[in-house]
Amino acid sequence: MSKKLYIKTFGCQMNEYDSTKIVDLLRATQSMDQIDNPDGADMILFNTCSIREKAQEKVFHDLGRVRALKKMNPDLLIGVGGCVASQEGENIIQRAPYVDIVFGPQTLHRLPQLIEARKISGKPQVDISFPEIEKFDYLPESLAYSDRRKGNVSAFVSIMEGCSKYCSFCVVPYTRGEEVSRPLREVLMEVVSLADQGIKEITLLGQNVNAYSGAIESEEEESMADLALLLAYINEVPGIERIRYTTSHPREFTQRLVDAHKKVNKLVNHVHLPVQSGSDRVLAAMKRGYTVLEYKSIIRNLRSVCPDMSFTSDFIIGFPGETEADFNATMKLIEEIGFDDSFSFIYSQRPGTPAADLPDDIPHKIKQERLLKVQEKIKYQASIACKNMVGTIQRILVEGSSRKNPKELCGRTDNNRMVYFSGDLNKTGHFVDVKITTASSKLLRGEIVQSIVEPSSFIEHNFCH
Ligand code: SAH
Ligand code: F3S
Repeated sequence: MSKKLYIKTFGCQMNEYDSTKIVDLLRATQSMDQIDNPDGADMILFNTCSIREKAQEKVFHDLGRVRALKKMNPDLLIGVGGCVASQEGENIIQRAPYVDIVFGPQTLHRLPQLIEARKISGKPQVDISFPEIEKFDYLPESLAYSDRRKGNVSAFVSIMEGCSKYCSFCVVPYTRGEEVSRPLREVLMEVVSLADQGIKEITLLGQNVNAYSGAIESEEEESMADLALLLAYINEVPGIERIRYTTSHPREFTQRLVDAHKKVNKLVNHVHLPVQSGSDRVLAAMKRGYTVLEYKSIIRNLRSVCPDMSFTSDFIIGFPGETEADFNATMKLIEEIGFDDSFSFIYSQRPGTPAADLPDDIPHKIKQERLLKVQEKIKYQASIACKNMVGTIQRILVEGSSRKNPKELCGRTDNNRMVYFSGDLNKTGHFVDVKITTASSKLLRGEIVQSIVEPSSFIEHNFCH
């Protein structure tokens, strides 16, 4: 009989991707099937995030809750992975001695060995090392069905791991290690395998995907592929009809990548490009490595090749020393660029980062007020962008039935907006043209005007040339 695995994922898309890999691995090696509830599980895993204090607190709160399950079933294995594991290591065992396994983002492929060692030794196992990109060599082939979120039409593919930017506020370089890219061939093989399984949309994933530098195997000499070249290759993979990437960083946004938005016809017209702040003073203190003017010039460049491109960003509100003038500069930038979505958070002091030594001097109430202003502004801009889409025809990749109303279908536009419409469930995994009829702040509704037979009619549509 198969064993049952419950896995809870915290935080970012990188973690979501890693969790699908863990599920594949434990299915292949331990005959474990994923379940949606910790009750009755043989193994409970928390894939954790430590980017902000709140994310970290949640993990220990959740661990406390599963402790009772372990009392009822002493054979239950409890594991903690991800960035909290990477940062805390042995401390987790000290704080929660009922935890059996602690593994990091770069050692998740060693889970079978760690489980074995735990059983043989009877002692908790900790492995949070950074063996360079070995992880992908030990993971089973990607399975489209492990990506449960999007009705098996869309999948993530990690192209690089870690981050070498060392922004002064961020734990990622310490918890996930330095930037390492997967070889070009390996990434392409994964994309081809996903396409063979019916995946239509690929999101290339990494902390800074535009730092991608993947080895090209050749007999003569070793050369490297950048993101622009990788995109060009993926564009040729039959079956893949849409390509996204996230997250990109303003520091390595090359002209070649800008040009890719013109040449690579399956690439969407949406870029998530975190700016964090609209003040040069704050950007310098954050060690982001660009100015507001440089950021704006990337946007201008992209708009020159793709005028209706939509932009989203991350913002940190209340970084130490952020004055009212600095904050107003952020608000001004939000308006100038017209961002229509964001991940915006109050600055969280992270132990071990350089910014942790700066006085966290802004009263919490002010930070909250500023955050609210940013979020309301972006919400307003999103609602305008949505209203402007009413009457247009958008090409939607159907992801399946809507969670709230199973009679309704849902899917995303090229610029990553969810649209709801009625239609037959057998359209899942296919493209349809939908006329947008109504829009509220983030929610779009429409009606199908045409079903698309891929891929022949797709190529010339909806891209900016
Ligand atoms: N590679 C991305 C960032 C990934 S981390 C980049 O280009 O910036 C995801 C987001 O978490 C960051 O963009 C930042 O907005 C937020 N974040 C990171 N550290 C934080 C901290 N200490 N406090 C608040 N937000 C933080
Ligand atoms: Fe963090 Fe900056 Fe890298 S935000 S992930 S150190 S680009």
